[in-house]
Amino acid sequence: MQKNIMTLERHFLEQQRKYPQARGAFTKLLTEIAFASKVISREVNRAGLGDILGNAGVLNVQGEEVQKLDILAHKMLINIMDHLGLLCGMASEESENYIKIPDEFPVGNYVLNMDPLDGSSNIDVNVSIGTIFSIHRKVSNHPRVALKDFLQPGRVQVAAGYVLYGSSTMLVYTSGQGVYGFTLDPALGEFLLSHESIKIPKKSRFYSINEAYSYRWHTWTRKYIDYLKSPVKQAGLGLSLRYIGSLVADFHRNLLMGGIFVYPEDTKTPKGKLRLLYEAAPLAFIAEQAGGKASDGMQDILDIQPKQLHQRTPLIIGSSAEVKTALRFRNDFK
Ligand code: AHG
Ligand code: MN
Ligand code: MN
Repeated sequence: MQKNIMTLERHFLEQQRKYPQARGAFTKLLTEIAFASKVISREVNRAGLGDILGNAGVLNVQGEEVQKLDILAHKMLINIMDHLGLLCGMASEESENYIKIPDEFPVGNYVLNMDPLDGSSNIDVNVSIGTIFSIHRKVSNHPRVALKDFLQPGRVQVAAGYVLYGSSTMLVYTSGQGVYGFTLDPALGEFLLSHESIKIPKKSRFYSINEAYSYRWHTWTRKYIDYLKSPVKQAGLGLSLRYIGSLVADFHRNLLMGGIFVYPEDTKTPKGKLRLLYEAAPLAFIAEQAGGKASDGMQDILDIQPKQLHQRTPLIIGSSAEVKTALRFRNDFK
């Protein structure tokens, strides 16, 4: 029998029937994020054509080089999301402070945290990049929005996801009822369900870490990576190294194929590099929903209480068994 074509809209309608918490406002929010991602996807696909490449010549709040498309994606998301009456605020990797909804627009009950474009060093070499997002419910009593609304542990996210601009554009999301993947049909301009109930394979096929930094690793990281490369481990698993340098793409591959991604604390970045709110927490929610695990080495990423918007965290994420092994090394060789 032929399978039904499941558009994002139809999927949300079915989810609403099954889960009353997937109410109109929430569904509309995800639909609008999907729309914004289609616009970004179009710009990413056209990036090689126009005079859009190269650096904008400014540094973002973390002191890193910002590419033009980062800013474009950041502005696009704000522009599409700020007037709908669904959000009370947004926080973005590209903005030092959180973004308030302009006074002329109504505020809604949700907060959006985002990495508008992840893996931006890969933009001008045509390698996969993505948008990562995380949605929380407003918790403060403030009439508009307060910092408290953004600084919530990942455990209470109501939804999280990413859009990968790769060989095709894919939207992967969870709202706590499993992980769903949609592939953009460019001719239709529609996301169509392509991956239902994604589960991360128990057997790991890949490990992902920036090995060039091994000189600054702590003992546990070195011992763990040596172990992954040891004949005994290789005989059992036959692991391969893959490291794209776009977290979202590295994570996506390991999610579908099985594996582990590690961006540890080291002597140069004692707190790791990746951001808790925009990168680690949303991907941790997806990993757990897919049967995987994410940790900072001491606790589950989802249990960390954020103290700052741009807080960084070490990240060990992927297949559950492999993450547990990494944690054993971290514990034994501190
Ligand atoms: P962003 O482009 O949003 O700043 O993120 C880049 C991040 C992440 O995507 C990737 O995993 C990591 O930086 C790579 O860092 P290294 O080059 O230090 O390995
Ligand atoms: Mn990023
Ligand atoms: Mn980014």
